[in-house]
Amino acid sequence: MSGTALPLPAGLFPGAPLTALAPMQDVTDLAFMRVTAHYGAPDYYFTEFLRVHAQSRPEAHIVRSITENDTGRPVFAQLIGEDLTHLRRTVAALLPLPVAGIDLNLGCPAPKVYRKNVGGGLLRDPDRVDSILGALREAVPGLLTVKMRLGFEDTANFDRLLDLMNAHRVDLLTVHGRTVREMYRSEVRYGMIAHAVRRVRCPVLANGNVTSAAAAARVLRETGAAGVMIGRHAIRNPWIFRQCREQFAGGAARDVSLAEVREYVERLFHATLPPGLPERLHVNKMKKYLNFVGQGVDPEGRFLHEMRRTDNAADLFAVCDRHLLTEPGRAFASEPYPGVIARPNCETPAGDADGCSLESVTA
Ligand SMILES: Cc1cc2nc3c(=O)[nH]c(=O)nc-3n(C[C@H](O)[C@H](O)[C@H](O)COP(=O)(O)O)c2cc1C
Repeated sequence: MSGTALPLPAGLFPGAPLTALAPMQDVTDLAFMRVTAHYGAPDYYFTEFLRVHAQSRPEAHIVRSITENDTGRPVFAQLIGEDLTHLRRTVAALLPLPVAGIDLNLGCPAPKVYRKNVGGGLLRDPDRVDSILGALREAVPGLLTVKMRLGFEDTANFDRLLDLMNAHRVDLLTVHGRTVREMYRSEVRYGMIAHAVRRVRCPVLANGNVTSAAAAARVLRETGAAGVMIGRHAIRNPWIFRQCREQFAGGAARDVSLAEVREYVERLFHATLPPGLPERLHVNKMKKYLNFVGQGVDPEGRFLHEMRRTDNAADLFAVCDRHLLTEPGRAFASEPYPGVIARPNCETPAGDADGCSLESVTA
């Protein structure tokens, strides 16, 4: 099969490199999408993955991030699965919804996922990827997109997989420049992303450790990609998409102050609070976001240390006030402080984690 990719939805500034918020399980729900849109939306959103198997139905809270998306920006629905019948059935359920396209997950590194031969596990089996992309291409008249890593154990299948993207006329490819085995903390191999850019016919989004607007510009220069996809660093710094646009336009990205970060914490707390959830549980969830935010607050990690010891909202906000409002005008670091790690004792997902959750991923 041959042919060219379909046109993508216009970015906010047509002609400028694209930005996307990375799909993140437990994070990129409607509430978080709205929070990022408040600070400057990315060009594209991707839902966290919808599981596809014999008993699956599109999860209601993920569907909400499509049907109630009021960010003004398109959202792609991401699927994780390998059964052709159930992938087709799920696509048929999603296509009547306002989705920008259907995205296939070829990257999730959680053992519980890859052992089922889905997500990153599929990178070991290009023949299966061929069948899946064939079935999806037939079922999706609009945009079909893929998010992949470089390979499973190594990059031996990379070229074959990239050629499948061409054969099935994939419309947009995101490459996270690590293998499944490399998880989340190794160096990102931007040279391999540049190779993908040269080999596939569709636009490529470069993903992995795009820590700031300056890093985004560097990664674009190094890879020639059409844009960047940003995950963990948008939790730390939801202004990053606006800053990228300022940087791409040739200006300086405007820093944010610690007082603005304090306001972000407050907004995130209220936006992500489900009705009826006990305060203690919500504080625990907030601490998971704040693990990332803390990487930009102080170089010694004192904010992180104190924040992790709180167990109620009053104490949590008191720690925020101490660290963010004592010098409210001080700039929030545009890059994470070296050595300040979001979850220092948790380099790899726990063996029983069934996805890439905030419980299990570091930065
Ligand atoms: C908490 C968390 C959940 C994730 N969930 C997904 C997911 O549902 N689908 C997916 O394709 N990638 C998922 N990822 C991977 C990210 O989309 C992204 O590829 C990875 O974090 C590297 O980009 P970054 O360095 O900008 O964070 C997840 C990552 C994190 C940190």
